[in-house]
Amino acid sequence: MKLGILSTAPRCYSTRRLVAAAKDQGHQVTVVNTLKCSIDLQAGKPDLYYKGKPLGDYDAMIPRIGASITYFGTAVVRQLEQMNVFVANSSSGISNSRDKLRSMQILSRHHIGMPKTTFVRDRADVIPAIERTGGAPVIIKLLEGTQGVGVILADSIKVAEAIIETLQTAKQNVLVQSFVAESKGRDVRAFVVGDRVIGAMRRVAQGDEFRSNVHRGGAVESVDLDDTYRDTAIRAAQIMGLQVAGVDMLEGNDGPQVMEVNSSPGLEGIERATGRDIAGAIVEYCAAYVDFPEMDIRQRLTVSRGYRVCELAVPEGSHFVGMTITDAAFSEQDINVLTLYRGKTVIPNPRPSRTLEAGDRLLCFGKQESMKSMVPSKTRKQRAPKIKKLDPAAIENASAPPVYA
Ligand SMILES: Nc1ncnc2c1ncn2[C@@H]1O[C@H](COP(=O)(O)OP(=O)(O)O)[C@@H](O)[C@H]1O
Ligand SMILES: [Mg+2]
Repeated sequence: MKLGILSTAPRCYSTRRLVAAAKDQGHQVTVVNTLKCSIDLQAGKPDLYYKGKPLGDYDAMIPRIGASITYFGTAVVRQLEQMNVFVANSSSGISNSRDKLRSMQILSRHHIGMPKTTFVRDRADVIPAIERTGGAPVIIKLLEGTQGVGVILADSIKVAEAIIETLQTAKQNVLVQSFVAESKGRDVRAFVVGDRVIGAMRRVAQGDEFRSNVHRGGAVESVDLDDTYRDTAIRAAQIMGLQVAGVDMLEGNDGPQVMEVNSSPGLEGIERATGRDIAGAIVEYCAAYVDFPEMDIRQRLTVSRGYRVCELAVPEGSHFVGMTITDAAFSEQDINVLTLYRGKTVIPNPRPSRTLEAGDRLLCFGKQESMKSMVPSKTRKQRAPKIKKLDPAAIENASAPPVYA
């Protein structure tokens, strides 16, 4: 295959190792400087120029997008997706991973263990938020920090409040997070490629430092993860939309607590710690899936008028409980059940003979009208009403001072 490594650092360890691994496996490989790409848009013909000339046909591209160029870098990756080039990580996955709030929000609905986290704006909400996360000591985090910069441990509520106020005055958004003390300055990085953890390491903070980042002097050792940790890492990467990811977890009393999912994880630490050919595994993954470029399923499926992707819940007491998918007559109503979510279990393409249980969630594609009729009436939304004529008095009234709840 013709492979590109999208990177602004051709000489760094990770890039060099990916190039060497690709050559080893007999592929044609080039480092493409992300910042030398230009994005050309034209109906029906999305294109990329590189140093003023058409980029040419690549089969696959491995994005290594630094935090300082997320906007432009993800735009280049998104363009490759439009051009049907296989990308090891999707643009949306990279964007999701870059913002600690956004990634926690996405993971939180999927039963992924995480430290209790809140995001506040109003000064009056700060102390209640700290108390909801369990009180001091408490962690305060900048939304877009890396390498441990912007992660602060505050010993008391007073100090936490002062730090948050200072950061907010400097127009920084901050997260308040419970301090997972039992992890004792250690965390685990699982390196996920596709649906496997191909290596893992434990990082241990030195001295009285609580941050275990290698850039903060953290020591590194290889570690064998148990199934819970492995499973959590793979699911977190998949939920974020990443095929290549470094999933960082604290070792909490209740098991893995995901802190962040990195979309351009460094290779040096993990290869040195584990002695495994991580770069080789990434290249092999690309070669195996090069025929299945990233696509936005919603974007593709919802262009059919009257059809949509939607999640149907099977609540306690629903008449679907105890029925099989066949009995529930989804297919007669032009609905395909794509995936069944049962607690932490994900069942793709569930068999028609599978019996539904209370609490199941079904990801479906089908006729919107039919799906609406399946939602219990309490939560059913009204059919989109006709757009009515506006009473001119409404415009007048809107200029009156607002009243908050
Ligand atoms: N809630 C927490 N409890 C305990 N330690 C934490 C917590 N959050 C972060 N840490 C420590 O700080 C380090 C950096 O935090 P992280 O959220 O990964 O930020 P960064 O993106 O800067 O690496 C982690 O590797 C971990 O050692
Ligand atoms: Mg980190």
